[in-house]
Amino acid sequence: MATFDLVIRGGTVVTATDSTLCDVGIRNGRVAALGEGLAAGTREIDAGGKLVLPGGIDSHCHIEQLSGMGIMSADDFRSGTTAAAFGGTTTVIPFAIQNRGESLRRVVDDYRALGDARAVIDFAIHMIIADPNEQVLGQELPALIRDGYTSFKVYMTYEGTRLDDYQMLDVLTAARREGAMTMIHAENWDMIRWLTKRLLDGGNRAPKFHGVSHAQIAEGEATHRAIALGRLVDTPLLIVHVSAEEAMEEIRMAQAKGLKVYGETCPQYLFLTLDDLDRDGMDGAMYCCSPPPRDKAGQEAIWNGLQTGVFQVFSSDHAPYRFDETGKLKAGPNASFKEIANGLPGIETRMPLLFSEGVGKGRIDLQRFVDLTATAAAKLYGLYPRKGTIAVGSDADMAIWDPAREVTLSADMLHDNTGYTPYEGMVLRGWPVTVLSRGRVVVDGGELDAKPGSGEFLPCDRTGFAAPLNRIPKELDPKRNFGAQILF
Ligand code: URP
Ligand code: ZN
Ligand code: ZN
Repeated sequence: MATFDLVIRGGTVVTATDSTLCDVGIRNGRVAALGEGLAAGTREIDAGGKLVLPGGIDSHCHIEQLSGMGIMSADDFRSGTTAAAFGGTTTVIPFAIQNRGESLRRVVDDYRALGDARAVIDFAIHMIIADPNEQVLGQELPALIRDGYTSFKVYMTYEGTRLDDYQMLDVLTAARREGAMTMIHAENWDMIRWLTKRLLDGGNRAPKFHGVSHAQIAEGEATHRAIALGRLVDTPLLIVHVSAEEAMEEIRMAQAKGLKVYGETCPQYLFLTLDDLDRDGMDGAMYCCSPPPRDKAGQEAIWNGLQTGVFQVFSSDHAPYRFDETGKLKAGPNASFKEIANGLPGIETRMPLLFSEGVGKGRIDLQRFVDLTATAAAKLYGLYPRKGTIAVGSDADMAIWDPAREVTLSADMLHDNTGYTPYEGMVLRGWPVTVLSRGRVVVDGGELDAKPGSGEFLPCDRTGFAAPLNRIPKELDPKRNFGAQILF
């Protein structure tokens, strides 16, 4: 009888810390051995000349989710996770969104059922909290966290979801108490709606004005404020989808002070610019997302943040809406920028884009690539070391990359349901050719071999990344504040 179920032979195994030429032995869905000349497997894959990387973790993607404008994302769990797998990702963490008045437990249970039924790779779930009332923060949230939903996103913008600063403090305090990770969409809502009204009053309706209304300073200010709110109650937080240089610099400064402030950026801020929103006719609508891509200099700044460690995670923020009346153009072919669904696709292209333009062009090394696309997310969200690395005992989630394969991106070759890619025509070098999820070969030779529902739900642990720095928040310490007693 063979020693292993599967042996991947002779590839270069890459983790966030090392590159080693060795075999990988897989048994019962887990990595059982790493070494030279491993014994036989029932199945063997020759990875000579290839890279064996941990499967990616896309820790920010919107799948089977209704937008604030009431538009259903083009991807359900089946198409979304299929596209993810083809792009080298083996774990996704999408969002169960609470609307005001809804029970958080209810929306999480309903969303979990969708993933259980249709996911082809493993998934965890973040929550979105839009109604942080006493019942939600005091009862539902602690129980959900115990059940493995240990992270949630809050919005400082959008009419339907935004929290005011008072609510933000309540939420951050609950996160502190429960050890949850808070993800923050940081944009100043009043700045955006003030700019939007004036733009529209002046007849400025084209998609490019989305970029004007979501001004850099709106992102920078809200990021500064979010960090200050987190500091007041001493709660770690993660600023998601950072696009503005000044927001990034706020995060850098907070990190330099030793605060537990983490940053995430996305492909659209490295590979798109404001000029894309100014494409002919309504084509710019395909590039409207929030926050929007910035100018060329801003794009370079975000690359710098990636290289210098300001950002821990690189996620897709896949928010797929078709370029038709079911999606981007739901408000009609001449919709104003305010009526265009925010978001763009990218779950399959996330890793190949960064591999080609980041590793291939010498901007980051392979270890940093693995960290940004897999390991750091596993650590931040409590999935490590089960996910996010290749080590004995870890789930055998990995992708075998051909670093020399050239691929010209086009919507036709991708597996999501959006019908377009913002990166049409880009020529990339390096592609994941074989993808394993818990030892199952789910993608090989351009084919998917995984049934809907074969992906498993992953309960997340609480992690030290979400733990406060001090027993009593420094800003509220009675010894420094005339005896003020604020109980947590
Ligand atoms: O435009 C975007 N990013 N839409 C998705 C929702 C969000 O805020 O992440
Ligand atoms: Zn957001
Ligand atoms: Zn998002």
